[in-house]
Amino acid sequence: MQTEYQKRREELMAKIGNGTAIFRSAPVAVMHNDVEYAYRQDSDFYYLTGFNEADAVAVLAPHHEEHRFILFVQPKDKEKEVWTGYRVGVDAAKEKYGADEAYPIAELDEKLPQYLEKAERIYYHLGRDRQFNETILSHWQKLVATYPKRGTGPIAIEDSNFIIHPMRLVKSAAELELMRKAIAISVEAHNYAREFAKPGRYEYEIQAEMEHIFRLRGGMGPAYPSIVASGANACILHYIENDRQLQENDLLLIDAGCCYQYYNGDITRTFPVNGKFTPEQKIIYDLVLTAQLAAIDQVKPGNPWNLGHDTAVRILTEGLVELGLLTGDIEEIIKEEKYKAFYMHKTGHWLGLDVHDSPVYKLGEEVWQTLQPGQVLTVEPGIYIAPDYQPAEGQPEIDDKWRGIGIRIEDDVLVTESGNEILTAGVPK
Ligand code: GLY
Ligand code: MN
Ligand code: MN
Repeated sequence: MQTEYQKRREELMAKIGNGTAIFRSAPVAVMHNDVEYAYRQDSDFYYLTGFNEADAVAVLAPHHEEHRFILFVQPKDKEKEVWTGYRVGVDAAKEKYGADEAYPIAELDEKLPQYLEKAERIYYHLGRDRQFNETILSHWQKLVATYPKRGTGPIAIEDSNFIIHPMRLVKSAAELELMRKAIAISVEAHNYAREFAKPGRYEYEIQAEMEHIFRLRGGMGPAYPSIVASGANACILHYIENDRQLQENDLLLIDAGCCYQYYNGDITRTFPVNGKFTPEQKIIYDLVLTAQLAAIDQVKPGNPWNLGHDTAVRILTEGLVELGLLTGDIEEIIKEEKYKAFYMHKTGHWLGLDVHDSPVYKLGEEVWQTLQPGQVLTVEPGIYIAPDYQPAEGQPEIDDKWRGIGIRIEDDVLVTESGNEILTAGVPK
């Protein structure tokens, strides 16, 4: 993997020319008092280094004469490591992670300027760590003040997101291998859940069985809080209480995926817990499935990002009008987004190191990112008819038989040279 990280750094350095890029590790998240969540590295940081510790800074300075890749890390400290875990340390940061130079993080202020003095720009994303933002800004301020004496130095800070996120969109062979693994485990868990679910079981039992498989197969755990939503709970998009008992004639919506070596699966299936759809459930399911299959058909190189969503929205809208759940002119319903009463989210997102991966969607006011081979996205239309649904003005009252039906179908789709590959095809629809 180290050659893979190095390749990514080289690609990024080629893009920043005489600039210097700075990446900050993710902070430690606190659960309560001095109890911490398991550490999760910032995805950009991980993408470039594979380094998995807090309190670290990675610097890429392609123009520097001696050091192009520099790591600032927590130094080895036997006493602290006994409590908070093993640290790579300064020496191994060079040996194992390929840094040309490494320093203890405490030396950042002293050592960083040499990597910025001759840079034309600083590439840095102003993140949630305000104090670190201040650190970078104050270095920049000093360099601007001393520019006249030196005649060199960064004249601007540019957000690194615009460089690294387009890179992250297109997955390498090594990344796809990890994604396939994350997805294979997710598929196994969904298939087991379908067998395991039946009236009388609790949502959390199904969650537990799935997350058991995630970890049992070597995954890091759930890619996001698992949604196991029976009956009307499926109408809450991010329902995670998972504490209801499944009833006869319930649908069960499961949106769960495994994280494997930082890469994520994201799958939703909705099925009747007793194996048999009611007529209304079947009608809505077929409509969502038709929209999903049509949206997946739009996943091919050269198509704009929004085409899948627009395709799904049109099909869902036409279906909802046909069923009498919406009324009016199709174009107007779409333009005025009246369908959002039943379909309030987008049809997908990029998938990768983050579940909602690098947010590169629009490249201009009406210019959409086009699909390219190697990208992975989800396709996940749905219909949610809340139990307490109230029609907006001009829209029809609905029959009670529709209330409480919530359906989403979500697959992970790879853009290929010739079209697409549904990576999650192993879970039946
Ligand atoms: N499970 C999160 C999502 O589908 O976007
Ligand atoms: Mn998703
Ligand atoms: Mn999902």
